[in-house]
Amino acid sequence: MSSSKGKIITIVGSGLIGRSWAMVFLSGGYKVKIYDNQPGQAAKAIMEIRKQLEELQQSHMLRGSLSATEQLALLSSHDDLALALEGAFFVQESIFEDLEAKQSVFKALETHVGEGVVLSSSTSCLMPSNVFSRVQNRTRCIVSHPVNPPYYVRLVELVPHPETLPTVVDLAYSLMTEVGQAPVRLNKEIDGFALNRVQYAIIAESWRLVKDGIISVKDIDLVMSEGLGMRYAFIGPMETMHLNAPEGLEDYLQRYRQGIRRVLATFGPIPEFAGEEAAAINKEIGELIPGDQEHLSARRERRDQLLMGLSKLKK
Ligand SMILES: NC(=O)c1ccc[n+]([C@@H]2O[C@H](COP(=O)([O-])OP(=O)(O)OC[C@H]3O[C@@H](n4cnc5c(N)ncnc54)[C@H](O)[C@@H]3O)[C@@H](O)[C@H]2O)c1
Ligand SMILES: *[C@@H]1O[C@H](CO)[C@@H](O)[C@H](O)[C@H]1NC(C)=O
Repeated sequence: MSSSKGKIITIVGSGLIGRSWAMVFLSGGYKVKIYDNQPGQAAKAIMEIRKQLEELQQSHMLRGSLSATEQLALLSSHDDLALALEGAFFVQESIFEDLEAKQSVFKALETHVGEGVVLSSSTSCLMPSNVFSRVQNRTRCIVSHPVNPPYYVRLVELVPHPETLPTVVDLAYSLMTEVGQAPVRLNKEIDGFALNRVQYAIIAESWRLVKDGIISVKDIDLVMSEGLGMRYAFIGPMETMHLNAPEGLEDYLQRYRQGIRRVLATFGPIPEFAGEEAAAINKEIGELIPGDQEHLSARRERRDQLLMGLSKLKK
């Protein structure tokens, strides 16, 4: 806690992700200032965070060593950007995913902060070189891409701009580690970063298998949730290979290399994700989980409860 004491982090944009970041940094004992350009929105975010922190405390899921009341005492909201940035050493931008909006926000941020302040973006899909293109000193800019909900899913992908200083990546890495997130470094920017590239590979092959009539929507989801997902919650694909042959990775490759390459060669083209095939898959998932708000919220709540349990288990 000593390193966080009195230090300030500013969150710009108080939607779903901005509020989650605030809770993550509060749990590490940082002072958090929230700014939103919709007047009153940041104050509303504080009310929402208070409710969530109190619920988390009741269910013994509150992160960090401070009580909900102590964490809330570190939180403030601002409708004025300059005041919100005063004293901050780290800024986490979390406005909606729009390139032009992000470019102008970062341009504005730069005019209000000192040269040592790290400017970090939550973008999921935009390239750092685009997001920061209007910043003069891009050496202190970085993408810190969280996974929703960051309070339970701890991964943060750190993606540098080509000019980002290694010390800036190191700072983001130790900050994320300190507040209990699980940072990973990308050595250079790439479209989709690492998580979405792997996720899209899974989505594409799952989609093709259903579209081609090989398997049902229900069963392909079980392939993940009852099969691959069971181990992937704890070990990744590399360790999986290493453990799945008696003598480790080399042995695994000896045994399975050809089979893997043979199967990969049969993968189909990129699906359209539209038209008749989308309508058919939508109909099938709709029979399992109707697409109205009531059913969707209930399933989201279930997902978050399960993730909460899993994150407890992983500790
Ligand atoms: N939702 C997810 O699953 C997820 C996961 C990872 C990353 N992200 C990324 O996080 C970012 C935020 O996503 P979200 O889901 O929280 O969005 P959101 O729409 O819930 O929240 C955006 C907030 O930003 C505010 N805002 C808009 N323009 C602003 C500006 N110029 N200055 C200050 N505030 C401004 C809005 O008033 C709103 O409160 C996006 O870049 C998104 O890609 C989202
Ligand atoms: C640019 O940012 C880096 C990292 O914060 C800082 O060390 C450097 O002094 C800045 N340069 C200028 C010209 O402001």
